[in-house]
Amino acid sequence: MTNSDKNITWHHSGVSKEQRQSAFNHKGATIWLTGLSGSGKSTVAVDLEKSLFARGIKAYILDGDNIRFGLNKDLGFSEKDRTENIRRISEVCKLFSDANIVCIACFISPYSQDRDQARAIHEQSGIEFIEVFVDSTLEVAESRDPKGLYQKARQGLIKEFTGISAPYEKPKNPEIHLDTSTLQVSESVAKIEDFLSQRGILQK
Ligand code: ADX
Repeated sequence: MTNSDKNITWHHSGVSKEQRQSAFNHKGATIWLTGLSGSGKSTVAVDLEKSLFARGIKAYILDGDNIRFGLNKDLGFSEKDRTENIRRISEVCKLFSDANIVCIACFISPYSQDRDQARAIHEQSGIEFIEVFVDSTLEVAESRDPKGLYQKARQGLIKEFTGISAPYEKPKNPEIHLDTSTLQVSESVAKIEDFLSQRGILQK
């Protein structure tokens, strides 16, 4: 069904992108952190948000676990549900970025096709999408096991667990690659902030 069949029309804002950018002194963008559970996505995201906030930049984290408490509480972890999870949250991130916020998305997002769709949803609207591969080996993520989920997955108590009984497709061409087995959290944050400055999203 087309939008015209659905009788819906797009309404434009009276505030321009440029007006928002000059009021905030930075641009909006989505920083998309992808990686295994326990790879360090949330840890990097929390310190990045704090650092940006301290610099007066409007930043906000959207985290996979949290979003599943509300907006996506109806979704599980089948391939189809994960695809819908990522599609919905991509739309939400696009809105945050359009509102000129630096949106920090932390989702395992294991399927390349879903991440490509997230990118397309942003780029079709002229919004910057920065894919960050938060990379740790399965062994390292499993040894951290901050929520005890790998242990449960190994015991067969959690089905379709990423890395154990469900796939993780590594990004082939991310804008930023963080090896969290060797990098300090502060180094990962600095790498992302440097990239944002180079791209002109933040002022140098
Ligand atoms: S995604 O694959 O759809 O992107 P999302 O990031 O929203 O996943 O949620 C992942 C979080 O859900 C994990 O950090 C973990 O705490 C929890 N979780 C519960 N069950 C699973 C599972 N089967 N696979 C992966 N993560 C799970």
